[in-house]
Amino acid sequence: MKRVAILISGSGSNMVALAESMVGDHPARPVLVLSNVPGAGGLAKAEALGIPTALVDHKRFGKDRAAFEAALQAELDKVQPDILCLAGFMRVLTEGFVSFWEGRMLNIHPSLLPKYRGLNTHARAIEAGDAEAGCSVHEVTAELDGGPVLGQARVPILQGDTADTLAARVLPMEHRLYPAVLRRYAAGDRTPLHLP
Ligand code: GAR
Repeated sequence: MKRVAILISGSGSNMVALAESMVGDHPARPVLVLSNVPGAGGLAKAEALGIPTALVDHKRFGKDRAAFEAALQAELDKVQPDILCLAGFMRVLTEGFVSFWEGRMLNIHPSLLPKYRGLNTHARAIEAGDAEAGCSVHEVTAELDGGPVLGQARVPILQGDTADTLAARVLPMEHRLYPAVLRRYAAGDRTPLHLP
């Protein structure tokens, strides 16, 4: 059974989708939800699901990213995960941390990568006049949002869409895609998945 730690910064809806999927014959189980934001909504949701939680507030470390990541690593060492899932974790990780976890760390990103790495993805897709948007699950490498894509889900961009209405259409697809990719990944299958 693979042990999964989920890193969050916010409401944690992807974390809940992942955690709720890891039951029955699923090859993985959640062992920790780790937040860098005190009071992140996802922390209470994890507690309600009975998953251990930890907080490493990046603000305690100022600009010292290595010290922040050492504190993250210390929390992870306590639970010995096999896989890390970034789920709305909004800190950029350094090459040292990423290379330690490379091949064992996934992220969900709200665009059809390689389009729109970084922030404000939905606004940028609308601004560009794209016909569709979506989300991608990828392996995390030192290149921001640049690792191998393991799955994508697409939605249409509709006339009159705003970043908010588009995000509301993409998020339910994230909740389908990420658990489906994690299940395959935990079983050793890296073949890209395409939804719907
Ligand atoms: C999700 O839309 C996720 O794709 C995005 O943050 C949101 C987190 O929502 N991630 C990024 O933008 C990463 N750069 P959640 O906390 O409800 O899962």
